[in-house]
Amino acid sequence: MRIPWSKEMMIGHLSLDSDHERIIALVNGLNDAISTSANAGLQIDKYCQIIDCFGDHFAREEQIMLSTKYPDADSHRKEHWYLFDQLTKMTYLFECNAPMAEQNIIAFLNKWFFHHVMISDMKLASHLFGQT
Ligand SMILES: [Fe+2]
Ligand SMILES: [Fe+2]
Repeated sequence: MRIPWSKEMMIGHLSLDSDHERIIALVNGLNDAISTSANAGLQIDKYCQIIDCFGDHFAREEQIMLSTKYPDADSHRKEHWYLFDQLTKMTYLFECNAPMAEQNIIAFLNKWFFHHVMISDMKLASHLFGQT
């Protein structure tokens, strides 16, 4: 299941939007690798790229929250930590070739990412652009 990138998901911050678009492209790339039964090594490689990209993106976003004194930074950071915690747990399932692990990871990532961008990152954007 691919995530479609749409303008509705743009929060209006150039580098954060660019990160989000890249994350979607990487998740879709993993989805394609799974759909075409690409070898396990390639799938794990793509999965690791997603984790790295999230790490860079969260660091950038959290730095922006800090430098602009975002009042909801703590709860926002906790959402990021939650994702990392889940990805770490799923790495094990992925590497063990657990049944349905790949599909579950894609479904989880799609759902978490869409919800986080549309609610929490949009709220951050309102703070950045003075709409709150
Ligand atoms: Fe975020
Ligand atoms: Fe984000």
